[in-house]
Amino acid sequence: MRSRVSVQVPFSDLRAQHEPLMAELVTAFREVTESSAFSGGPYVAQFETEFAAFCEAQYALGVGSGTDALWLSLLALGVGPGDEVVTVPNSFIATAEAISLCGARPVFVDIDERTYTMDPAKLEAALTMRTQAILPVHLFGQMADMDAILGIARRGGTPVVEDACQAHGAEYKGKKAGCLGVAGCFSFYPGKNLGAFGEAGAVVTDELEVRSRIQMLRDHGQVAKYIHAAIGWNARMDGIQAAVLSLKLRRLEAANAARREHAKLYNELLADEPRVIRPAVEPHNRHVYHVYAVRVADRDAVMQRMAERGVTCGIHYPVPIHLQRAYEFLGLRQGSFPVAERCARELLSLPMYPELTQEQIERVVDTLKQSLPAAVPVYT
Ligand SMILES: Cc1ncc(COP(=O)(O)O)c(C=O)c1O
Repeated sequence: MRSRVSVQVPFSDLRAQHEPLMAELVTAFREVTESSAFSGGPYVAQFETEFAAFCEAQYALGVGSGTDALWLSLLALGVGPGDEVVTVPNSFIATAEAISLCGARPVFVDIDERTYTMDPAKLEAALTMRTQAILPVHLFGQMADMDAILGIARRGGTPVVEDACQAHGAEYKGKKAGCLGVAGCFSFYPGKNLGAFGEAGAVVTDELEVRSRIQMLRDHGQVAKYIHAAIGWNARMDGIQAAVLSLKLRRLEAANAARREHAKLYNELLADEPRVIRPAVEPHNRHVYHVYAVRVADRDAVMQRMAERGVTCGIHYPVPIHLQRAYEFLGLRQGSFPVAERCARELLSLPMYPELTQEQIERVVDTLKQSLPAAVPVYT
């Protein structure tokens, strides 16, 4: 038996995920190669049908990335220069970039300190006459408080687009991520719960009009061969990505179940550790743990000590979007969104992927406990 000390734990392990699929992947590559269906085509159409069914949505549209999915959804809703889109500051920068790429202005609201998702109590005050959409982020695999957000949005007739890039298969009151707003946006970046072999994304929607606009915009505004009704972009999905995604979609439920089991074990092993805040899950939510993040004092030093002991962690995200240099022009500063800023200082993402073993999880927890500062911090 290996000694515990020798167990290295990476942050994620895509090789372990792909090794058992190798024969099926080779077959899929051969099929796509033999049909030369490299850009769009039947493999993309098939994946779109399968992913729409998985999300319980009418339509799915394969696009080039999660960023494309967000950007094209907002464009399809008519978001443009002079408009505002309300979102959160603690996301990957792509959430805000998609708004900016439409020519609109991101307006941030702070997050709920327990779930790290948009705080609906702060949403109303952020809405103006210029608000064209609300873009909540289902961070780490847990959905935002959609009833409250949709209720506020409905009063102003404002569409809601879901950033579900980290929430494949997550649920809110029994409804799948992506199907509560007008459009739901997914990333298939390789490390996501459903990951491609490169860049890919999708939009799901029940609205025929949104579907038609995105179909056109993702393909250079093309409505018939070389006939262009609008200025679009090349945001098509590759056939090879679609074939890989179809194959991996069949395992997504099992992979999410494994992540949830790992989170349960982490929670149990950390239950008696007062120096750690564990993830809080609302009872109506099905969390799919794209990220299992705890909060600790002196986070950067803890992460460094864990790395020295062979356990690699991540930080999602060290600098909130409103404090990034790219968004300096918004004139926001430290103190603008205190909850998001505090979480950015304290959140530490522990290794999380379906193939983790019990031994590895125990090793992560032992290492975390050894790496924490001795004093119990006062969490306000
Ligand atoms: C919350 C969130 N939004 C948007 C994106 C952008 O997706 P992509 O990297 O596929 O463009 C990501 C991916 O990292 C994400 O996590």
